[in-house]
Amino acid sequence: MCGIVGYIGNKKAVPVLINGLLSLEYRGYDSAGVAVLNPNNSDYILKVVKDKGRVKILQDNSELETITGNVGIAHTRWATHGMPSKVNSHPHLDNSGKFAVVHNGIIENYVDLRKKLLDNGYTLYSDTDTEVIPNLIHMNYNGDILEAVSKTMKELKGSYAIEVISPLFADKIIVAKKDSPLVVGIGEDENFIASDIPAVLAHTNNFYFLDEQEIAVVEKNLVKFYDINLNEVTKDIKNIEWDAESSEKNGYEDYMLKEIYEQPQAIRETIGSRLSLDKKVSLGLENVDFKAFNKIYIVACGTAMHAGIASKYAFEKFCKIPTEVDMASEFRYRNPLIDEHTLCIFISQSGETADTIAALRLAKEAGSTTISIVNVIGSSITRLSDYTLYTHAGPEIAVASTKAYTCQVTLLNILVINIAESLGYESKELNSFKSSLLELPDKVKQTLETNKLVKDFADKVYTQKDLYFIGRGTDYAVSMEGSLKLKEISYIHSEAYAAGELKHGPIALIENGVTVIGIATNPITTEKTLSNLEESITRGASVLVVTNQNIKNDKIDYIINVPETDSILSPIISVIPLQLFAYYIAKNKNLDVDKPRNLAKSVTVE
Ligand code: M6R
Repeated sequence: MCGIVGYIGNKKAVPVLINGLLSLEYRGYDSAGVAVLNPNNSDYILKVVKDKGRVKILQDNSELETITGNVGIAHTRWATHGMPSKVNSHPHLDNSGKFAVVHNGIIENYVDLRKKLLDNGYTLYSDTDTEVIPNLIHMNYNGDILEAVSKTMKELKGSYAIEVISPLFADKIIVAKKDSPLVVGIGEDENFIASDIPAVLAHTNNFYFLDEQEIAVVEKNLVKFYDINLNEVTKDIKNIEWDAESSEKNGYEDYMLKEIYEQPQAIRETIGSRLSLDKKVSLGLENVDFKAFNKIYIVACGTAMHAGIASKYAFEKFCKIPTEVDMASEFRYRNPLIDEHTLCIFISQSGETADTIAALRLAKEAGSTTISIVNVIGSSITRLSDYTLYTHAGPEIAVASTKAYTCQVTLLNILVINIAESLGYESKELNSFKSSLLELPDKVKQTLETNKLVKDFADKVYTQKDLYFIGRGTDYAVSMEGSLKLKEISYIHSEAYAAGELKHGPIALIENGVTVIGIATNPITTEKTLSNLEESITRGASVLVVTNQNIKNDKIDYIINVPETDSILSPIISVIPLQLFAYYIAKNKNLDVDKPRNLAKSVTVE
């Protein structure tokens, strides 16, 4: 996830672009840059200033003072392909230096496109997927920029919101989008482009929204829209009345809610081109001899560890290797039985968690192979691990992790397929598992529609003191995550139990005024979990069930129906109502959901 801004009008472009980038920093902040068409005699030249680091570093760059042009594009980056560095930052130029491009999204077929460009004599200077775009535009340009952009779009697979400027058409910015956000803001004798409304809300409340695979030609007094085949499209302007605070969060009240709603896209980007039905998964682990392992350890903290617990079932089922999940803080001090026959998988959103780093070092000393699942590119864990696989969740700002979790579970399951295929365990079941994974972004989107019912239940039970989550198998795994989410942002005491364990002690706590949330998505265990819920109802508990089974039971207060999927993948879906539940409870209690007390986003101490 990155942020892009564009300006065309009579003002100096740089200050407008920098202010826009500052309000988009929540989308990414590892490098930033601008490209402006600067007057040069009777012509224009492209001036590009960019650097690693936050927008402030760019803002303080004295080179910007020499730029007076009125047409420009800008970018703040959240690295996905290529480390944060000056050469990898945007804007990127084509080899002729005539086309400058900024891009938000992921070009999934960039390896093939890079090869095509290299075969055609182009040089690529960065490690990014983006650099193919200006060069493809150059390759496809025969004097008509719209045709060149349309041809280029047809070659790109993946997601993109792009802006293109060039001295060859100095009165225009060309923009295009697919699966990444882009808006055009309308002013008087000036127009604006941005990833999100907040970036330009100081200048206008009137916006056009681009639809999928559309192109816009933005001039200072005119905006025209086209589909990918260059048929003109008409659009209505929408008036957006947002206050400054809500605009920063793109209209959401809190980052946590925004991040919950970003999950379909984040999962889609994490799957990217890694998974398809017609070929084997390839995660760049060809040098790993998976036959050498007799044990897998998954090690992490908090929500990341819960992602590991939710995925353990898949490792054992499809890879047939005994798999243990451990808290990094325990693993590092308990002399775990690991050696060169152990595969150790570390999970971390930040890539900076002190306990996870220490556990990783221990595993390396013991000679184990280490693979890490990380969200923040270039973070410490990625530098220490033998192999790193990135979730493409984008920056997660709320302390309570939401989209990182669903992306971690998604990527772990893709890793499962990679290992199973390397071990020769292909099967019909594995193929249908792949299909189920590919359906997840749409199903998660559908699941977000449970929000009203979940809020309703939260409104009723938010004053309660104790809350329990129960489930079996992967439903138990997701119960732990639901319980952690609730604890950390609502400060309500909560525990997760394997449903069958309730009668071995915890049921003594169930009485009037207690709430029990059951997760029942596995057809084999649903009846059993329902019986355990009935036992709780009999003792006075209010009960909510999250299920994809056809449950008819009048005694249950709320039934949240979620889409069906392979029960191994169900945590990715059933966690959504639990995240929303924790969120609405905390909102009812007027708490700061993004910054809960006593917690930090990245725990870099023991
Ligand atoms: O950055 P990491 O994924 O390594 O962080 C691990 C935990 O600190 C983190 O998941 C924590 O539990 C979250 N606040 C939970 O929402």
